Amino acid sequence: MTKVSCDTSGNILTLETSSGSYRFHAVWLRDNAADPETRSASNGQRLIAVGDIPADTRIAAASVDGASLNINFAPEGKTVVFDINWLIAHAYDRPTPDQRGWTRDDIELWDSGLMSHVPTADFTELGARGEALAQWLGDVTRYGFGKIANGPVREGALFDVVDLFGFVRETNYGRHFEVRTAVNPTNLAYTGLGLQAHTDNPYRDPVPTVQVLYCLESSAAGGENMVVDGFAAARRLRDEDPDKFSILADHAARFRFAGEEGVCLTSRRPMIELAPDGEMTGVRFNNRSLAAITDVPFDRMEEYYAAYRRLSEIIDDPAMEVTFRLDPGEAFVVDNTRVLHARKGYSGAGTRWLQGCYSDMDGLRSTLDAMRAATGREAAE
Ligand code: FE2
Repeated sequence: MTKVSCDTSGNILTLETSSGSYRFHAVWLRDNAADPETRSASNGQRLIAVGDIPADTRIAAASVDGASLNINFAPEGKTVVFDINWLIAHAYDRPTPDQRGWTRDDIELWDSGLMSHVPTADFTELGARGEALAQWLGDVTRYGFGKIANGPVREGALFDVVDLFGFVRETNYGRHFEVRTAVNPTNLAYTGLGLQAHTDNPYRDPVPTVQVLYCLESSAAGGENMVVDGFAAARRLRDEDPDKFSILADHAARFRFAGEEGVCLTSRRPMIELAPDGEMTGVRFNNRSLAAITDVPFDRMEEYYAAYRRLSEIIDDPAMEVTFRLDPGEAFVVDNTRVLHARKGYSGAGTRWLQGCYSDMDGLRSTLDAMRAATGREAAE
């Protein structure tokens, strides 16, 4: 049985339900009213600004009616009906996280143990845009990467992959880029050297949040792909030494790429990015495009480098890496704000050719949430 009560000021409402007790503020409730004068019935967008809410808004009366909560707001004299389940789903009366570097419940940190079950889907099944796609997009959100198998060996097929969840983000490298041995490489990614695990293009702001790599040829020995969970690496650093974690989160690094004519991309961002409440939201790590770091206090630069070195060692630890081969017609999609990728070295004999492009995680999550909402499952917010 749900019960409602208010404090004497009318500023705080308490909802006691079978799933718990939740407090809400009058101004919050008023702003989140779902009546047609406050929210558009057609697109759900708010029709009022905060200034339209009287500063002295308070609850004049409240009552429960089945699954609904009726609230009369003073001084407007406006009565609004709230869905109690919506209120419970959006309750904010809970303890705040006390440790920096926490991650959302819908993501799962991983290490090399994930090697035995790399999230993989069939190209044709994904194209049906049904449950297989929802499952795979959910995996990409949960683990930060996913593989696709049994696709066509056809130039441009990577655009079919992007089309499953979003749009291509074009850059100075073009709508897509070719990854294969080049005679005069402008970027080390196009040579046969192995690369340290990295996030792509940290010198862009905003950074491309999704990378797609699609394999078209792979007759050269080696060249396996490897991914490392940057959040897991940063979490391990935090658990080993919170000060090392903090110094990388609290000071901006700088990244730069000016390796082609007419291009000079720079950014100033920390290697470990946190939301104001300490949620880990991004990792930028790329030895090749790290520029001179000038935003760490003089007295702390050695400490900063010790932390950077330790994070690098953790990233290089085979216990953190998941390795898989991409054969022609196979692709992988990676959340470039979280998961680092690398390629093992490969020999010059034979060929290896991939096409890559960028897209965005917000579009991917939007597609997933819209699919889940359409199938009646709760969409994450
Ligand atoms: Fe890369």
